[in-house]
Amino acid sequence: MPTATMPTTQLELRLAGRMSRLGTETAFEVLNRARALEKQGREIIHLEIGEPDFDTPSNIVEAAVDALHKGWTHYGPSAGLPDLRQTIAEYVSRTRNVPVSSDEVVVVPGGKPIIFFTILAMIDEGDEVIYPNPGFPIYESMINYIGGRAVPIQLREERDFSLDVNELASLITDRTKLIIINSPHNPTGGVLTKSEILDVADAIGDRNIMVLSDEIYSRLIYEGEEFSIMSVPGFKERTILLDGFSKTYAMTGWRMGYGVMRPDLAWYITRLMTNSNSCTASFTQVAGIEALRGDQSSVDKMSNKFRARRDMFVAGLNKIKGFSCRMPKGAFYTFPNITKTGWPSKKLSEALLEEAGVACLSGTAFGAFGEGYLRFSVANSLENLNKALSWIEAWVAKNL
Ligand SMILES: Cc1ncc(COP(=O)(O)O)c(C=O)c1O
Repeated sequence: MPTATMPTTQLELRLAGRMSRLGTETAFEVLNRARALEKQGREIIHLEIGEPDFDTPSNIVEAAVDALHKGWTHYGPSAGLPDLRQTIAEYVSRTRNVPVSSDEVVVVPGGKPIIFFTILAMIDEGDEVIYPNPGFPIYESMINYIGGRAVPIQLREERDFSLDVNELASLITDRTKLIIINSPHNPTGGVLTKSEILDVADAIGDRNIMVLSDEIYSRLIYEGEEFSIMSVPGFKERTILLDGFSKTYAMTGWRMGYGVMRPDLAWYITRLMTNSNSCTASFTQVAGIEALRGDQSSVDKMSNKFRARRDMFVAGLNKIKGFSCRMPKGAFYTFPNITKTGWPSKKLSEALLEEAGVACLSGTAFGAFGEGYLRFSVANSLENLNKALSWIEAWVAKNL
């Protein structure tokens, strides 16, 4: 919604009706508020935004600089550079244990456009899309924006935030066109096991329903194994696999991700790219080849650091009155239950930012079923995470 400080004009702003249905990602709003407090001289610990705090590995940065010098500064093919598409096809074939060819890969600016384009390409008004709730807010936002019917499947803490396959089966109707799954999961850190994914596949059976499998955190799994529904027999042509460079290689600001899907759908997603972005930046794509083919030790280093921070932070949260937190199995988020504080999530997250100096997100930023929870990212130093815990503890001692 426009704010009071925005300049107004005499002319009515004649927006399209669908704009009233477009949601947002609260993380960016909380970040802005935290920055405003910092400007006033307050010290804030940032645990709100979902991005690695590490720099992009230097071999990737150097590959991009080299590409710039070599003239990779022009438009490229809308679906992505052939060499990068081939590299991604090999990478996905190897990591997901399913043969993928380059014409099934579309490179886009970040993982997010794959969500947007998939829903735009597949969903008509009234078509039903089942999506995780709590979940990445862009799913619900985009379904509503396009005029689809957003059908939430609740992820419950007592199931370690995996989905209940019987509930999923009960939500599938003749109008279900797309099911979105996300593992490792934002915001809970839940990871679907191989047998749970096989159960999801079983619930879908041989219906002609597509699955958008958001695997953007696939390299950040601390317990369990990576398993994609794309590798389940009969599901390759019904899966759109979303992955990218943002989280794995600390490249959030580069804007590069990809989708893997049947070639006929890839053709339409490419057409959406031609109509919107033309192509992903060429020199970043050259660096993407280095990211996937080059030394992977930085990925392991980051992952080990996230795991150590997760262990420390979860143990610390569990010592705070009114907080209880399960151990997340993947990604870099913790999702403590705060119902025993007696505070609603949004009010508590605001108080922690304004009064304790710790920026986090309300569980409700991830949908209605996020009430009763907060999300803290552990993509910050152990020192800052420790400080955040002690500031929260002090605030709780004073206010609860
Ligand atoms: C589950 C999930 N999917 C997709 C994305 C989008 O990633 P990108 O920054 O590459 O667009 C995010 C980013 O936070 C995410 O958490």
